[in-house]
Amino acid sequence: MNVAQISRHVHYIGVNDRTLHRFESLWPLPLGVSYNSYLVTGGDKIAVIDGVEAGHALKQIEHINRLTDGRAPDYLVINHMEPDHSGAISLLLNAYPDMVIVGNTQTVNMVAGYYGIEAPTMTVKDGDTLPLGGDVALSFHFTPMVHWPETMMTFLACDGVLFSGDGFGCFGALNGAVVDTDMDATRYFPEMIRYYSAIVGKYGRFVQRALTKLKSLEISTLASTHGPVWRERMREVGAYYDRMSRYEPFDNGVTIVYGSMYGNTELMVEEAAATLAARGVKDIAVHNAAISDLSYILADIFTHKGLIIASPTYSETLFPPIKSVVDALVTRGMKDRVTGLIGGHTWAPQAVKVMDALLQDTGMEIVSGSVSFKQAPSQDALAAVRELASAIADRL
Ligand code: FEO
Repeated sequence: MNVAQISRHVHYIGVNDRTLHRFESLWPLPLGVSYNSYLVTGGDKIAVIDGVEAGHALKQIEHINRLTDGRAPDYLVINHMEPDHSGAISLLLNAYPDMVIVGNTQTVNMVAGYYGIEAPTMTVKDGDTLPLGGDVALSFHFTPMVHWPETMMTFLACDGVLFSGDGFGCFGALNGAVVDTDMDATRYFPEMIRYYSAIVGKYGRFVQRALTKLKSLEISTLASTHGPVWRERMREVGAYYDRMSRYEPFDNGVTIVYGSMYGNTELMVEEAAATLAARGVKDIAVHNAAISDLSYILADIFTHKGLIIASPTYSETLFPPIKSVVDALVTRGMKDRVTGLIGGHTWAPQAVKVMDALLQDTGMEIVSGSVSFKQAPSQDALAAVRELASAIADRL
C-alpha cells in the first residue's frame, strides 16, 4: 500500500480492505473499503491521526515504522471510536507503549469501555490546540453525530488539512493513488451516496451543523477515514454532503421499490414504470426489495425526487423486505420525496394503510390516489396505478 505524502507534513498510513463482505455486517462492499490513517511529522512530536480496523494493525505499524525509522509516535488522535477506526488501538499501544491517546471525554470513556485502556490519555475540549513543534499544530473541532456522539475533526492549519473522520467519506478501496488529483475519482461518487445513505443518513442535521462550523477553517484538503483524500474535487464533495444532509435529491428520477410473491404487485409496478417513462421520466430505478440490497435502494431514494413503494399485505402487515425499507426511511427521517403507495392483498387490505401510518411522521409527500388492489390487478386497478404514476410525474 502506498504511504503517499499528501501534504508538507502529512503521509497516508491507512490500509485497504478488499476481503470484508459487509461493512458493519450489513452493507456490501463490492469495491472494498479503505480505513484511512495519517502520520503528521515535521515538528518535534509525531502524531498518528485515526486508527484502522483490528485485523490491519500490523500494516499500519509497518507504515509508521517505515516513515519514522523506528521512532515511536508521540500521539494517537482519535477522531471517531467506531471499531473500523479504533480496533487497532491495543496493538498500536503494544508497539508504542508511551504513545498518548488524544480525544475528548467521550472518546476516552469509549477507549476504556471497548478496550479496557485507561492511560496514557490527553482529554481535549472543542477548539483546543495541540502544538507539535514549529508551525505544526493540531486543533480539535467537535462534530457530534457525524457519525457517533464523540466524533470530532482535527485540523492541521499549516497544511490546510482537515482530518474529517467519517465526514466526506465513501466506500471503495484506494486503487494505487490516494489523493484525488492523482486519479479519476468519478467512480467513488456513487459509493459516496451509498455510504452516506447507509451509514450517516440519519444524522443530516448534525452534518449541516458541522458544515456550518467548518466554514471558519481555511481547508485545502479533506482527509477522511474512508475513500480518497479530496483536494481537486473538495468543493464537489462538500456540495454532495450538503445536499444529502438536507435530503435534497440529485435529480427528478423515480425510485420504485416493490415486493411481490407471485408477480401481481410486480405487474402494477411495471405499469407504473411504463407510465412514468411515457411521461418523460428518464431515470427510473426499479428494485425488487427481496433481491436488491437495502443500501442500493436507499442510495437511489437519496438520489431521486420521486418514489413509489409497492407491497403485498403479508401476515396482515407489510411484506418483510418492504417493511425494512420503510423502517429505514423512517429511521433516517427521509423527507421531500414525492411518494406513491401501492398495496396488494388477497383478503386483508392492510399494506397501504400500514405504509401510510408509518410514513406519517416523515416529511415525505404522500401523493393522493394510493392504490389498493385485490388479488390479480383488474383493469380498474391498472388504470388507477397509471393515474398515480402520472400524478407523480406531474409533481417532479
Ligand atoms: Fe468509519 Fe463510523 O466509522
